[in-house]
Amino acid sequence: MAIVYNEKKQTFSLHTARTTYQLKIGNLNYVNHLYYGATIRDEDLSYLIRRYDRGFSGNPYDSLQERTFSLDAQPQEFTTQQQGDFRINSIEVQNSDGSFSFDGRYLSHRIYNGPFTLDGLPTPFATEQDTVQTLELTIGDAITKIRVTLLYSVFEESDIIVRAARVHNSSSHRVDLKRIMSVNMDFMNGSNMDLISLPGRYGQERQVERQPLTHHVHKIRSGRGISSHQQNPFVALVDSTANEEFGSCYGFALMYSGSFLAEAELDQYDQARLVMGINDRLFSFPVEPGETFDTPAVLMTYTHKGLARMSHNFHHFFRRNLNRSKFVRDVRRPVLINTWEAAFFDFDDEKLVNIAKAAKDMGVEMIVMDDGWFGKRDDDNSGLGDWYVNEKKIKCGLTELVRQINGLGMKFGIWFEPEMVSEDSDLFRAHPDWAMEIPGRHAVRSRNQLVLDMTRREVHEYLIEHINRILDSANIYYVKWDLNRAITDLWSNALPADRQGEVSHRYVLGLYRVLDGIVKTHPDIMFEGCAGGGGRFDPAMLTYFVQYWSSDNTKPLDNLKLHYGSSFLYPVCTMGAHVSEASPMVPFETKAAIAMCGTFGYELDATKLKKKEIRACKKMSDLYHKYYDLNFFGDYYRLANPFEQVNLVAWECVSKDKSEALVTVITVNLTVNGPQEYIKCKGLEPDKYYRVEGGTGSLTASGMALMHAGLPIPREIPEYTAFIYHLVEI
Ligand code: GLA
Repeated sequence: MAIVYNEKKQTFSLHTARTTYQLKIGNLNYVNHLYYGATIRDEDLSYLIRRYDRGFSGNPYDSLQERTFSLDAQPQEFTTQQQGDFRINSIEVQNSDGSFSFDGRYLSHRIYNGPFTLDGLPTPFATEQDTVQTLELTIGDAITKIRVTLLYSVFEESDIIVRAARVHNSSSHRVDLKRIMSVNMDFMNGSNMDLISLPGRYGQERQVERQPLTHHVHKIRSGRGISSHQQNPFVALVDSTANEEFGSCYGFALMYSGSFLAEAELDQYDQARLVMGINDRLFSFPVEPGETFDTPAVLMTYTHKGLARMSHNFHHFFRRNLNRSKFVRDVRRPVLINTWEAAFFDFDDEKLVNIAKAAKDMGVEMIVMDDGWFGKRDDDNSGLGDWYVNEKKIKCGLTELVRQINGLGMKFGIWFEPEMVSEDSDLFRAHPDWAMEIPGRHAVRSRNQLVLDMTRREVHEYLIEHINRILDSANIYYVKWDLNRAITDLWSNALPADRQGEVSHRYVLGLYRVLDGIVKTHPDIMFEGCAGGGGRFDPAMLTYFVQYWSSDNTKPLDNLKLHYGSSFLYPVCTMGAHVSEASPMVPFETKAAIAMCGTFGYELDATKLKKKEIRACKKMSDLYHKYYDLNFFGDYYRLANPFEQVNLVAWECVSKDKSEALVTVITVNLTVNGPQEYIKCKGLEPDKYYRVEGGTGSLTASGMALMHAGLPIPREIPEYTAFIYHLVEI
């Protein structure tokens, strides 16, 4: 049983295969968090809570004269408000009388099989191989009649617990939610913990930062209306000594594509608290009597086996429980060529056919027509919103163009940027009020485009109808769904003045609604997400998109860092990675080896390549297919950290049965007459013997030797050489 309720002790133990999470209905019916860590039995761990009279930490009135009971020191499942807990909080609600108080005590619970779902927000699903149980535990305020149901779905085999919160207004007045987090996680001992996050910027997404948790509030957030290039909705709290192989690691990933917030704090007693959810900045969401409000879900995992295992737990889950598309597992994704860096806006049907013809010899299986095919779009100043084919460029029409491409034995993909509108477009001229703009002000322009008001039904309907019309007009195999600016000017003409605090969240709900109407109605199309590269690469997006364009930066060496950082949360099969003309000093083979640590493709003008380069590409496209299963479904290990001063960067994918592995090594800095370098493999079966092909020859060694003594890497070779070692059990 994944969830065990002990009625006598009033404890709930949530068991995954290797972890236990425990909570308890404690004193005065406050719900205590007792434990999250390696598996324990269903014993009551409330002995861990020690009570003292702590100065300046108040006591709830009904604790009577008991000075040792303070919510300021109690580990809790969700916080109260104005009840003496001064730490970061998970709820802030303004009641109809203007007060800000919420005193949530246990009311009821229920346990059922299967995962919870949320209103208008994506959640993970259970497959036939999963055992999933859900606990819904409701706390409520006896005076204000506001209730919060804490939702926990336990995915037993995957060591993943999914959490969210649902607010019910059972009063007869409207209340305003000013802040509502998806998760509150208390740690009774938070000293010696590090916080890991994935900050970045445009062109340099998901770098890795690790810092000690100290006595202040650490804030990781996006306020850009999208999950953003600058931060990713992921944090880990780990032992300060944790490394790839050892140490306690707690990982948290928010399934949300808008402005988000994660806060972590080490309190005055060295207890830690982490909260994560929708960003409360510019957020104020009214909940009317009888209504509910759902927060997005958070995926949580724990392991004491280090960072690699934490990542594997997420990778495994992402591959199995987020996206039902056949392109996740059953249908192999084709090698693609994207026209963006080859032609930008300057193309027509003939040019596309020529690129496709040339690319065919590179082993390319699909051409993607990027930005510029619709409306009046010769540069990025016009045309967005006009989702009809520009017949000056695609003279033969889309259906015929796709037919010609298919005739070459290639598939066809197309680009959209649905959420945006250019002022110079027919759509804007017809519906200027569909663009978000604050009354009396001019909207902020970015890439010279405005943002459609995604809170409005008529906008949803316009997008669903026009985009589906294009998708149904030709044999389209793939869609790249882009977004190229952050969201500003939070205002909707469709909402009254006192409900403008909903806009940011309603934008995201609207986006999911449109995605449902387009992606879910086209199960045979493969969808890739993009936001100026990886600006909205998040777990919620991966419920719609099987892969996400990692970055507009295709420089291979920058991609080493980007892939390394992304791999903390995202599996290889989700990371879009292309070989391009960038960094001419790096050989094609090396670029391809790096792009193979992702969903492989090209972003260049195939008609301009030399015969030799075409042949090199063909070889690399064949390798992508040869190692597809290993890369896409194997366990990924980070072997050398590109953020450190290293001479080599390396990673490895090991098949689930450990019979095969692929080790990729890139030389980034080789000194003349330097020391012999070794790379230690990971995840192999110690007692098995492996034949290793690659480098400058072949050898045979045991898993033990390869993991503990390592693989010697050839010396005196030029920098930016790639070695791909294929290990096969003998
Ligand atoms: C964004 C994407 C690019 C390309 C352009 C087109 O920047 O990340 O890959 O599609 O838009 O305008």
